[in-house]
Amino acid sequence: MIALETGRLRLREFTANDAAFVLRLVNEPAFLRYIGDRGVRTLDDARRYIADGPAASHARHGHGLMLVVRKDDSLEVGMCGVLRRDTLPDPDIGFSFLPEHWSQGYALESARAVMHHARETLGLGRILAVTTVDNDPSIRLLGRLGFRFERMVSLGSEELRLFVSEP
Ligand SMILES: CC(C)(COP(=O)(O)OP(=O)(O)OC[C@H]1O[C@@H](n2cnc3c(N)ncnc32)[C@H](O)[C@@H]1OP(=O)(O)O)[C@@H](O)C(=O)NCCC(=O)NCCS
Repeated sequence: MIALETGRLRLREFTANDAAFVLRLVNEPAFLRYIGDRGVRTLDDARRYIADGPAASHARHGHGLMLVVRKDDSLEVGMCGVLRRDTLPDPDIGFSFLPEHWSQGYALESARAVMHHARETLGLGRILAVTTVDNDPSIRLLGRLGFRFERMVSLGSEELRLFVSEP
């Protein structure tokens, strides 16, 4: 089981017990707008999302989205990790936080730990990121992490910005 630690945060793999948090996070207006509708409406849906998404990814690839918990009070604040999608040629980083925890540097702190682990422990090379054209907070965050815009890509029906980080 992967577990990462930063100054303020702990990142760990999801379990079925995190379903209530996932149910809320993936139905946040910003998640629906900038990432998409995962069709998670009930706790059972959320357990299925965890099993088929992050848990399956960790089992298959050795990495995937992780739960981000604040160390101070053990509160779940978001998720962050490196995914592997059939639709992209290389792994990509993803992150999403509950709005009451935005603008405190938690996303940056988690993503730095995830990138460091991806490079130093997993030995991953090129890491990608995709955003909608208008997701400014995510684009600023990727800039701080050292990603550069490469080109537009169409995934499904949407034109997305593709960012790249090279080792
Ligand atoms: C994308 C997302 C994770 C970014 O979260 P965020 O809260 O803006 O990111 P951070 O926590 O790193 O905060 C960065 C901001 O906090 C500020 N900040 C405050 N305290 C800070 C600290 N201690 N350390 C670093 N930054 C700090 C930074 O200056 C920065 O401000 P800016 O964005 O105005 O330049 C968030 O908007 C989100 O969850 N969106 C919905 C899902 C989504 O779109 N995911 C990405 C899909 S591609």
